[in-house]
Amino acid sequence: MTIKPSTAAVLSNVDGLSALDRARRNKLMLGLFLPIQNCGWSPSFAPRTTSWHFDYNARLAVRADEFGFDLAFGLALWTGKGGMGGKLKYWETTLDPLMTVAGMAALTNNLMLVSTVHILYGWHPLHLAKFGATLSHMSDGRWGVNIVTGYATGEFQKFGKEQIEHDLRYVMAAEFTEQMLRLWEVDENVSISGNYWRMENAFCTPKPARGRPILVNAGSSPAGIEFAAKYCDLMFITSPAGAEIEAALAAFPAQTAQIKELARRHGREIKIIVNPLLICRETEKEVRDEQRRITEAVDIEALDGMMVSQRSGDNKSWRGHQREQRAVGGNIQLFGTPSQVVDWCVRLHKAGVDGIHLSFFDFAPGLEYFGARVLPLLKQAGLRN
Ligand SMILES: Cc1cc2nc3c(=O)[nH]c(=O)nc-3n(C[C@H](O)[C@H](O)[C@H](O)COP(=O)(O)O)c2cc1C
Repeated sequence: MTIKPSTAAVLSNVDGLSALDRARRNKLMLGLFLPIQNCGWSPSFAPRTTSWHFDYNARLAVRADEFGFDLAFGLALWTGKGGMGGKLKYWETTLDPLMTVAGMAALTNNLMLVSTVHILYGWHPLHLAKFGATLSHMSDGRWGVNIVTGYATGEFQKFGKEQIEHDLRYVMAAEFTEQMLRLWEVDENVSISGNYWRMENAFCTPKPARGRPILVNAGSSPAGIEFAAKYCDLMFITSPAGAEIEAALAAFPAQTAQIKELARRHGREIKIIVNPLLICRETEKEVRDEQRRITEAVDIEALDGMMVSQRSGDNKSWRGHQREQRAVGGNIQLFGTPSQVVDWCVRLHKAGVDGIHLSFFDFAPGLEYFGARVLPLLKQAGLRN
């Protein structure tokens, strides 16, 4: 059997930059929020191609890579049978993001591949240090981890654990992260007796390829923001003013300035990313028609289940989001023509946002349309190289 060498290792070496440095060359980073859970971000029956299957997501990642996107990642969810409810069984079926990006490493060349990991559900820092170093080599230094602490009610119990108090989770996440970083840095056996994890003569080799893997977080609380400012390269924020773009644009400058200032105090730089859902068409009428098509076919029970789930957790994100906005989805909503979308992107950038991580109702055609009609305008606007 002939083994085909991965093009990833060869091609991503061309400019000698790490994935993060390459992404930083663009004023506005571009990410793809992989729909590795059933129904993507919209509990609607309206017909679409979107699928949680690996094959579908792998094709999306390859297309995003070809369009020059910087980042792809997906959620980590541990819903029970029936997911968040309704006939759709919203979010019942989910791929694991750590395994998913492993499969995408050899298929892509430039994308940062980020895995969401609930580090408090039974992981040891040595596990993630080793798995992460392996993924880093598989992707030629393009792997990163989105560290989540588990806000959803009932998830800890699925692992036989009790829910941990919100701020304590971030204290534990800090200890976990520091131990993992040490294992990546030190070329000696490591012995640490922490408050929550211990290790004796632990050693991680290989070290990650091309330096420390990218660290990501998506908090909204003071504890979540402090964690991100201290350790993370990328931070996802949600609009405290809800999903409507004008309200979000008004709220972002203060929020992004505060986070970046906190990072500076730690001697660090952090890039801030938001995750809009995009409905983009040639005319505003077509946009409204598409929005109506999705909303009119909403699965009410699934929508209610989703609202309850996000409100019953102890998370500070998504608080300003209205029920009717969640029917379509997106932490913010960019519903407009290509030039309107680009105008919003320019304003987002001015508001301190360094990247947009995109989702679509119908991913494959949505991504193609974005690549053909919006991307060239983003380049003209000087937001992309
Ligand atoms: C873009 C984005 C992606 C997230 N992905 C996940 C995820 O996959 N799994 C999860 O349990 N929480 C996820 N979260 C929730 C966050 O980890 C966090 O719990 C939430 O934003 C609340 O922040 P806080 O803990 O600072 O209140 C995500 C949040 C955002 C904004």
